[in-house]
Amino acid sequence: MINSGGEIQNHSDFVAQSNLMLPRGPQYLYENIRDFVIAVPKSASITGKAMLKGTRPKIVACASLHVLWEDIAEVRAAAVHPDIQKQGLGKRITEYIIEEARLLGIKKLFAFTLAEEFYKKLGFERKDKEELPAKVWGECSRCPKYFQCDEIGMILNLSP
Ligand SMILES: CC(C)(COP(=O)(O)OP(=O)(O)OC[C@H]1O[C@@H](n2cnc3c(N)ncnc32)[C@H](O)[C@@H]1OP(=O)(O)O)[C@@H](O)C(=O)NCCC(=O)NCCS
Repeated sequence: MINSGGEIQNHSDFVAQSNLMLPRGPQYLYENIRDFVIAVPKSASITGKAMLKGTRPKIVACASLHVLWEDIAEVRAAAVHPDIQKQGLGKRITEYIIEEARLLGIKKLFAFTLAEEFYKKLGFERKDKEELPAKVWGECSRCPKYFQCDEIGMILNLSP
């Protein structure tokens, strides 16, 4: 658990340095570790024994589903290693998150992002921040971009 958290942190910090996503510190990761889905190279396998020995494959992509209320959740920290971007992994990992949201009965899934086209291709629509439900603002008040936010609000309606 400790090492997976550290790995996700290294991976997402690398991307956060380019201002494309928010930095996530260890406290955030420990508190929200169960939100995360990770991808490892195909050749790597994670077995219980290997985990106990401390042998862990490198994480090459991650994304998280953070439930905010009965019917609304956020996709956070979606990132793919720069060496393997634009090969469909971001789409696959985000589709997994969307499916998880559906299974949980979530009706609206949103994301704050600079990758508008990526989310559009997954069916999300751009929404003015004022149109988003008040519940989505919880994270914003703690965000380092609070006073100069350049992120776009994207929302996916999952209602049947
Ligand atoms: C955004 C990100 C997760 C996408 O992952 P990826 O593996 O490169 O994306 P995919 O290959 O699955 O792309 C799916 C589609 O979206 C398009 N796409 C992906 N990233 C895009 C971007 N930044 N701008 C425009 N289109 C993009 C792809 O061209 C592809 O289109 P296609 O289906 O017509 O071929 C990845 O580029 C990344 O880690 N970026 C840095 C962090 C970031 O911006 N995260 C966003 C959430 S805050």
